[in-house]
Amino acid sequence: MRMKSRKEALNERIVQRKAKVCVLGLGYVGLPLALRFAEVGFPVFGIDTDDEKVEKINRGISYIPGVSLNLQEPKVLRASKDFSHLDDADAAIICVPTPLSKTREPDLSLVLEAAQTVAKHLHPGELIVLESTTYPGTTREVLLPLLEERGLKSGQDFFLAYSPERVDPGNEIFTLSNTPKVIAGISPSCLALAQTLYSQIVQRVVPVSTTDTAEIVKLLENTFRSVNIALVNEFAIMCDRLGLNVWEVIQAAATKPFGFMPFFPGPGLGGHCIPVDPHYLSWKLRLLAYKARTIELADEINREMPRFVAEKVGEALNRQRKSVNGSKILILGVAYKKDSTDVRESPALDVMKLLREKGGDIFYHDPWVPRLSFNGRDLGSVPLDAETLSTADVVVVITDHSRFDAGEVVEHSRLIIDARNLTHGIESAKIVRL
Ligand SMILES: NC(=O)c1ccc[n+]([C@@H]2O[C@H](COP(=O)([O-])OP(=O)(O)OC[C@H]3O[C@@H](n4cnc5c(N)ncnc54)[C@H](O)[C@@H]3O)[C@@H](O)[C@H]2O)c1
Repeated sequence: MRMKSRKEALNERIVQRKAKVCVLGLGYVGLPLALRFAEVGFPVFGIDTDDEKVEKINRGISYIPGVSLNLQEPKVLRASKDFSHLDDADAAIICVPTPLSKTREPDLSLVLEAAQTVAKHLHPGELIVLESTTYPGTTREVLLPLLEERGLKSGQDFFLAYSPERVDPGNEIFTLSNTPKVIAGISPSCLALAQTLYSQIVQRVVPVSTTDTAEIVKLLENTFRSVNIALVNEFAIMCDRLGLNVWEVIQAAATKPFGFMPFFPGPGLGGHCIPVDPHYLSWKLRLLAYKARTIELADEINREMPRFVAEKVGEALNRQRKSVNGSKILILGVAYKKDSTDVRESPALDVMKLLREKGGDIFYHDPWVPRLSFNGRDLGSVPLDAETLSTADVVVVITDHSRFDAGEVVEHSRLIIDARNLTHGIESAKIVRL
């Protein structure tokens, strides 16, 4: 009888959902992914270097809003700090952060660390997938040589693929399972196995020809958002000069049933993806002597927005014969986006810093962020009630959380700078919109 090839054996284990899946990095991307594999019946181990996260998962406590750890027995997600779980893994999926360095260049150190660990435990018949967002070439130029260092050959002994994550934390309509997943392999057999694996958890997989292509697809998606947000942010600035309401302009333009997709202005970009990912691409292009102008211009406009908002606060106070210096300034929402706990790169921090530098007395309310480290201090969210609102000289809306009651905010506040159009539909001389 013919022996099964490594590819056939792994394929069979995946289809039977017996393949042991290890997910490295249990954050916004890795935790929902690991849960989804567990949900459909795979034995899953989540590996993270953060003790607190590991402990919480093993106690069934989720730290991501909207992500529940309630699995039906016998399905279970176990978390660990112990990388020896990789020794008998059939698939290892890397979901660690890819931030920027201080000089705004790609910082692949965590991907490298995770890949080195995977390489140390690599064994024949294993499938490795990178999911972290990164520049085109990372899987092929960085991961592949690292994994092949000990003599195993990709496409033959082990399999290597890249699949960018499209998770939108908090989105209840598009989840992991109903969002198509782009996949590429280093070789046809790598792609085939990765396709089989992801077909178990998502309704549609979208194979592309190379891992470089799959890497840049993700960067196109996020650059598309960054550029369009920059466009409407610039429209906000231009409408301000023209004395026009940018929100009305966008809403009217959005009635065009084709060729227009509305994006909305705001106090600046935040989170781990949109402000960061396009720089991975522009950095890579710089190495090839090309300046990614659209990316850089969009970044410049988006990064100016916190200052634009802070200036609007100063102007509005000035019209009331007050200065930022000494004014009580309530920041409403510090998470970078609606209904999220995530404050990474949040423009709220920049707006707060700019107003603090001008002597503002800053405090904040955010139902999702009970504590915030700001300016070397640990701040707590103040309660949102009539007294808090009415004692503030100005309320600055940075995040339009669903829990906010715009009517209440307008009723009790003295002055509102609304950077998100939370107060849409309410006419009041107290409101200054972006
Ligand atoms: N957050 C999003 O909405 C989103 C969406 C799509 C893609 N991405 C990309 O996915 C990747 C992960 O992002 P995230 O938001 O999940 O990050 P995160 O910070 O929420 O989680 C990453 C986790 O990795 C852990 N970690 C770090 N080094 C590790 C190591 N060597 N081994 C094991 N665990 C390690 C951290 O402790 C952390 O828990 C990034 O490349 C990001 O750009 C994020």
